[in-house]
Amino acid sequence: MTAAIVNRRVVLASRPQGNVAPQNFRIEEAPVAPPGEGEVLVRNEWLSLDPYMRGRMSDAKSYVPPVAIDAVMVGQTVGEVVDSRHPGFHKGDKVLTSLGWQLYGTARGKELVMVDASRVPASYYLGVLGMPGVTAWFGLFEIGKPKAGETVVVSAASGAVGSVVGQLAKGEGCRVVGIAGGAKKCEYVVKELGFDACVDYKAGKLAEDLRAACPDGIDVDFENVGGAVLDTALRLARLNARFVICGLIAEYNATEAYGYKAMRSILVNRVTMRGMIVFDWKDRYGEALADLAARLATGKLRYKESIVEGLDNAPQGLISLLAGGNFGKQLVKLS
Ligand SMILES: NC(=O)c1ccc[n+]([C@@H]2O[C@H](COP(=O)([O-])OP(=O)(O)OC[C@H]3O[C@@H](n4cnc5c(N)ncnc54)[C@H](OP(=O)(O)O)[C@@H]3O)[C@@H](O)[C@H]2O)c1
Repeated sequence: MTAAIVNRRVVLASRPQGNVAPQNFRIEEAPVAPPGEGEVLVRNEWLSLDPYMRGRMSDAKSYVPPVAIDAVMVGQTVGEVVDSRHPGFHKGDKVLTSLGWQLYGTARGKELVMVDASRVPASYYLGVLGMPGVTAWFGLFEIGKPKAGETVVVSAASGAVGSVVGQLAKGEGCRVVGIAGGAKKCEYVVKELGFDACVDYKAGKLAEDLRAACPDGIDVDFENVGGAVLDTALRLARLNARFVICGLIAEYNATEAYGYKAMRSILVNRVTMRGMIVFDWKDRYGEALADLAARLATGKLRYKESIVEGLDNAPQGLISLLAGGNFGKQLVKLS
């Protein structure tokens, strides 16, 4: 039965220099082989697009190896089991996979996680109940350690990670200030997500506006952007501030490193700045996911998705994400 299925996949054709371009990708078709012993064949339904994918397209040294030229682009998906030779998975089961940018894929049972799509949409396991949600949870609570009354600043505040960070920090009794691009995103961050304020960095007076939004300075900065946004936040650091370096999206397409100018603030304010990679907490994901699911079920967590239709539009979806074109967690609907 499965021998007749044709797979469609997006492979890395070349490494980008600067901005990602459509020519960096190639779309291919190939027959789907039936699963071997212990394997499961999955039809992917949702593909997650994430900023880290820009790093995997480059061969610069990082915390994981790059995607090889001609290999399928990496990524998490949620899909449905269509054929199984593994006792733990059956036709119709919904699973979280690392099968990447393709319509079908075969995985060993241990590479799949069963998801319950009866209570929340299956796509949520790629966002608020997935890697971005867990990143927000551990980054904020384990590194940021917010205390009631403190000021927490979150950049890329309307996005997958930032939106969760801000809502969690509000739950701790903090003053939460978002930074986002454009009036619409800022309005969403304040009115829908409940942040106390949001600074539109595209309005051209970031330093002035951030200072006005943080009159007592910054105790916790959850940094998703880097560059001028981080440099500006650093200048407002309070004594013993914690800076969680989660992402530097403003620098991912850059061909030259940003020159930080506010280092003196780290010294005089005894700032702790720590990089975080979510995998470091992989043994504890369940802890974060249980808490996030409970908050979602009780309406304490609002969540938004940004959806691109069809695998062939995945390259454009990533290009757009890296330019801030998404509004909420970026996904590709595959079927
Ligand atoms: N360390 C980890 O383990 C880990 C795990 C997951 C994610 N991350 C990082 O967390 C950050 C947020 O990821 P996400 O998945 O939640 O993405 P996202 O926030 O949903 O989307 C990315 C957002 O970045 C913002 N952005 C700010 N400055 C930008 C610039 N100069 N160019 C392009 N975009 C800019 C855009 O929002 P505006 O329009 O508001 O600018 C865009 O919507 C990323 O830096 C990512 O690499 C890290």
